[in-house]
Amino acid sequence: MKRIVVLMGPPGAGKGTQATRIAEKYNIPHISTGDIFRANVKGGTPLGKKAKEYMDKGLLVPDELVCELVEDRVLQDDCRCGYLLDGFPRTIVQAEYFDEFLAERECSPLSVLNIEVGEDVLLPRMVGRRVCRSCGKTYHLSAMPPKVEGVCDLCGGEIYQRADDREETVHERFRVYEEQTSPLIEYYRERGALSSVDGSESPDEVFAAICAILGDCR
Ligand code: AP5
Ligand code: MG
Repeated sequence: MKRIVVLMGPPGAGKGTQATRIAEKYNIPHISTGDIFRANVKGGTPLGKKAKEYMDKGLLVPDELVCELVEDRVLQDDCRCGYLLDGFPRTIVQAEYFDEFLAERECSPLSVLNIEVGEDVLLPRMVGRRVCRSCGKTYHLSAMPPKVEGVCDLCGGEIYQRADDREETVHERFRVYEEQTSPLIEYYRERGALSSVDGSESPDEVFAAICAILGDCR
């Protein structure tokens, strides 16, 4: 069965953390629109320059820059047995675009996993998050620090703080999530595609809950 999974949840819910594990267990590519935009910002591409204007303010990149990018990505060969979307769709316009794409191109159902976490838990997670500039591995200053300060355990790369993880920007991202992304919970619930997990538990417990929903077969 082709497995198409969408991971939803507010900023800092643990989408990236869980996506890495899900992709490995189910052997499907992890497609994070945020990571794609950050790679473009780093590479100084025209898309990166446009996206940066919005990302640094905690705003969403316009739908027209996101939808075709995702469509092109999921049509690549490594997605033929399934894929995991992290951070897309994020607006009703994106969800409707993706539904049309699925109706035309895919015959597999969509599993939408919503990771639920309250803002009081999210803020310290995000302000303490650090990321490897080279391989993208995520750390947390107190909960999951690297063995050597400032250095990635996996590749020795430099560890940095994302520009949008400063406290003022994080509050704006919460506001944008509530206004533009949280309506998707009802959207997918009405379509019978939504499952929710409690993201305030430990990463292992959250992963176990996700696997119980997705099942064991690869
Ligand atoms: P994106 O990169 O997708 O950011 P986000 O949705 O705000 O989510 P984060 O990546 O901040 O958090 P996460 O849920 O992945 O949590 P993580 O696992 O890292 O998007 C960034 C920007 O790009 C957007 O603001 C927008 O501008 C643009 N963009 C992207 N997609 C777009 C789209 N479709 N349309 C328009 N614009 C788009 O975990 C967070 C921290 O918590 C880490 O330190 C981690 O170690 C820790 N942690 C994780 N799980 C746990 C746990 N269970 N217990 C304790 N700590 C935990
Ligand atoms: Mg992420």
